[in-house]
Amino acid sequence: MRMFLLFLALGALLAGTTACDDGRIYESTGTVPREGRVLKLSGQLSGIGKWSEGYSVVVAGFNDESDYAIVSKVIPVPETDGDEVEVVLSGISEEVTEIELCVINRLRKRVASFRTIEDFTATADTTLMEVGALDVGMYRTIQQQVFDKTCTACHGGSERPAAGLVLLSGKSYANLVNHSSVFVDGSLRVAPYDSKESILHRILNTDISSTWGIDHSQMITSSNMLTLIDSWIDNGAQE
Ligand code: HEC
Repeated sequence: MRMFLLFLALGALLAGTTACDDGRIYESTGTVPREGRVLKLSGQLSGIGKWSEGYSVVVAGFNDESDYAIVSKVIPVPETDGDEVEVVLSGISEEVTEIELCVINRLRKRVASFRTIEDFTATADTTLMEVGALDVGMYRTIQQQVFDKTCTACHGGSERPAAGLVLLSGKSYANLVNHSSVFVDGSLRVAPYDSKESILHRILNTDISSTWGIDHSQMITSSNMLTLIDSWIDNGAQE
């Protein structure tokens, strides 16, 4: 009888360990590269957690003909902003000619790129992509893709920036968010969570500024960028 109980206990123990092993086996097969090329990205990325819903910071494969990612892997938000992250992208087909650290939207369309490997060629080994310390936040992206490219010529560091609005990196946030408009009484340049009421949205998407002197309505024609600005505002306009 005692022997029987012992077997029973042993059986239960074995069943327990097998169940446990199952989990481990599953995890390790998950990291075995599938067919195709493999890329490992590493770096100290900050700002990933600040993106609003619908956007993902990814390492992705593209070809020259399209802005839509062929293959992509989401970069996880590190426990502490700016910590080292490591992501392996496997199964990269021959079709892929370019690898990017970038942001894509729900349709997997590229919204902004941070780093690119062009002419990504076939190799048996894992390709390493070391990007170092990099701010990939939502506001940082708007600063680089919109303000630095299109606005600072007039809203820059000169003695008299247009409308007293400075859109230089490091200054733009305080000049916009919860800052009164000098042209529309009672309105804010950026009212967090309310893009439609924000002068920044209205000046880029409507013709309100056409009678003010400089018409801003055609300055940004990329709907990706206009949507990005609205999403940023409606998500609370975080720095
Ligand atoms: C060619 C010069 C020029 C460029 C480029 C320019 N602006 Fe302006 N901006 C002005 C002037 C001048 C005003 C004052 C009102 C007017 O004439 O439209 C102004 C006013 C504004 C205002 C209203 C400020 C307030 O307090 O109401 C905002 C917001 C603004 N600009 C944002 C931008 C953004 C964003 C960009 C880049 C996409 C940009 N501007 C590019 C010249 C420019």
